[in-house]
Amino acid sequence: MTETGLPQISQGLDGIYIAESSICKVDGIAGRLYYRGYSIDQLAKNSTYEEVCYLILYGKLPTAIELAEFNKKLVDARPLPPMIIDVINEFANKQDPMDTLRSAVSSLSAYDTDMNDSSEAANLDRSINLISKLGSIVATIGRYMNGGKYIEPNPSMTHTENFLYMLNGKAPDKKDAELLDLMFVLHAEHSSNASTFSTLVAGSTLADLYSAVTSGIAALKGPLHGGADEAALKMMRAIGNPDNTEKYINDALAGKRKIMGFGHRVYKTYDPRATIIKEDLLALQENQSEDVKTLTKIALRAETMMIEKLGKSHGIWPNIDFFAGPIYVSIGIQMEMFTPIFAASRIVGWCSHMMEYWKNNRIFRPLEYYVGPSGLDYVPIKERK
Ligand code: SDX
Repeated sequence: MTETGLPQISQGLDGIYIAESSICKVDGIAGRLYYRGYSIDQLAKNSTYEEVCYLILYGKLPTAIELAEFNKKLVDARPLPPMIIDVINEFANKQDPMDTLRSAVSSLSAYDTDMNDSSEAANLDRSINLISKLGSIVATIGRYMNGGKYIEPNPSMTHTENFLYMLNGKAPDKKDAELLDLMFVLHAEHSSNASTFSTLVAGSTLADLYSAVTSGIAALKGPLHGGADEAALKMMRAIGNPDNTEKYINDALAGKRKIMGFGHRVYKTYDPRATIIKEDLLALQENQSEDVKTLTKIALRAETMMIEKLGKSHGIWPNIDFFAGPIYVSIGIQMEMFTPIFAASRIVGWCSHMMEYWKNNRIFRPLEYYVGPSGLDYVPIKERK
């Protein structure tokens, strides 16, 4: 309660701790990020998505044998059941791909061997299955959106090589697959962000893991969260010519419109993931298309301007979503797939947090401070004006 006796309301749970966790540390002041104690810079440089998934799920880096066994489970789980392919075929060109993803993931529970088994071992198996399946589902949605048909996964490829193979129907360029693997690593986990929190709220009622992550997918779709990468690229496309950048940004800010890809509830400095993505974007410039080069010029001018205007003064800096678009364009991925790819990466974070929370579960039930009318008497409809 405040001195006036009114409750202390934290809009959007700003500054509220909901649990203890040992999965991820986000240092918003220093602009540092750690998965299970390892800095994102070291993981981005040395690891792979498969290894990072093992680290986030089990809390330690795997030995070579552990990683090989884990990877075999991921590979074996890649093929999609016919009904899931039917769901994708039915919806992929009728709605947003995030909606099709939500439907397909919900349908996966129909193939679960024992939905009543809520043991940690069963949920670990479900997590590995979901990590693998979301890669195949998202790639297949993209394939159907481009007029293609389901392709059986390739067991000899890495997670992101197979993703691009199932998306495009041909073996990917190794560099593209490595770049996509980096994006998967950077998007894998981020503490109690809106979609992870949404997952926890659903799972805190002891609903199953499919229901919980479906809630996470729904929350990720919004442009204030996972949808920002697509929105940021749309803005760059709308700017079109680098020389239009400053006017576009000024007009947007004057109109109180938010510049997508900037700002963060926790980072009050440069998002360390944006730093890594920007470095990789700059490193691949020379043999890039004119389109990617133009997008990069626009992004750099927008970045300079936003940091000058709102960086130091308001703590509004580039976040993970800002430079992601030009990277995905350089890999040949269409913008409607950006947020589904975010989901296919973040599935490991959602599952890990859900299993951790279930160890000390308490249903989420916050309060609202009622400010509406009281003590009204019922009026029969004949007497209402
Ligand atoms: C992700 O939480 C996570 O960890 C998320 C994520 C993850 O890995 O899971 O990091 C991924 O979602 C990154 C964020 C992607 N979203 C965007 O880029 C959308 C644009 N950003 C904003 O909508 C906003 O910055 C948020 C949603 C990211 C944070 O919102 P907050 O903390 O609620 O901040 P706010 O909206 O209350 O803004 C405070 C002020 C406001 O001005 P006033 O009304 O006080 O005058 O800052 C302004 C805002 O208008 N502001 C911006 C801005 N972001 C905030 N102004 C212009 N452009 C922006 N991008």
